[in-house]
Amino acid sequence: MNENVHVLNHPLLQHKLTILRNENTSTKDFRELVSEIAMLMTYEATRDLPLEEVTVKTPVDTGTFQTLSGKKMAIVPILRAGLGMVDGVLKMIPAARVGHIGLYRDPATLKPVKYYCKMPADIASRDVLIVDPMLATGGSASAAITFMKEYGCKHIKLMDVLAAPEGIERIQQEHPDVEIYVAAVDSHLNDHGYIVPGLGDAGDRIFGTK
Ligand code: URA
Repeated sequence: MNENVHVLNHPLLQHKLTILRNENTSTKDFRELVSEIAMLMTYEATRDLPLEEVTVKTPVDTGTFQTLSGKKMAIVPILRAGLGMVDGVLKMIPAARVGHIGLYRDPATLKPVKYYCKMPADIASRDVLIVDPMLATGGSASAAITFMKEYGCKHIKLMDVLAAPEGIERIQQEHPDVEIYVAAVDSHLNDHGYIVPGLGDAGDRIFGTK
């Protein structure tokens, strides 16, 4: 790992993540917690947003204060599980646009194929935050980053609740320019591509489709 990887081990995040991991956590609680975790993680993932000064007249006096300089952002969930993080991010960045990307793995080539993609028209000029709860092999995340670069996006971050070392390594190798934000890095991937100990299938647990 290097300085591009931010493991956000805040006590609130760790507490909520432990509840997510529990197999007895209900769909309702799981969904709410993924959203809350995404909101808290966004706080850290936006730490470098530029500020500018504005003059404000308070009821008491006039002063110079800081405000966001208006950098345009887009959240890009990787379908389907990434959708579970969108609400939480939007609570922190309500003006962000949302682009969607859906990928599947071609059984013959094993390469990720884009089956759905809808981006804001001005996506190339926006800072992009790709969200997906699980960074497992890194295949989908790496492909999503490549697609966003093909759209002309220059500033891309990746935010996942949980990662496997294999996924982090892949993103670092294929996209060393991308900052990665995770709440925890687990031990490894099992033979089925699940993160161990992980939390199971995030999409199924968010949408109750198991
Ligand atoms: N996707 C999931 O939902 N869970 C994993 O453990 C790995 C990938």
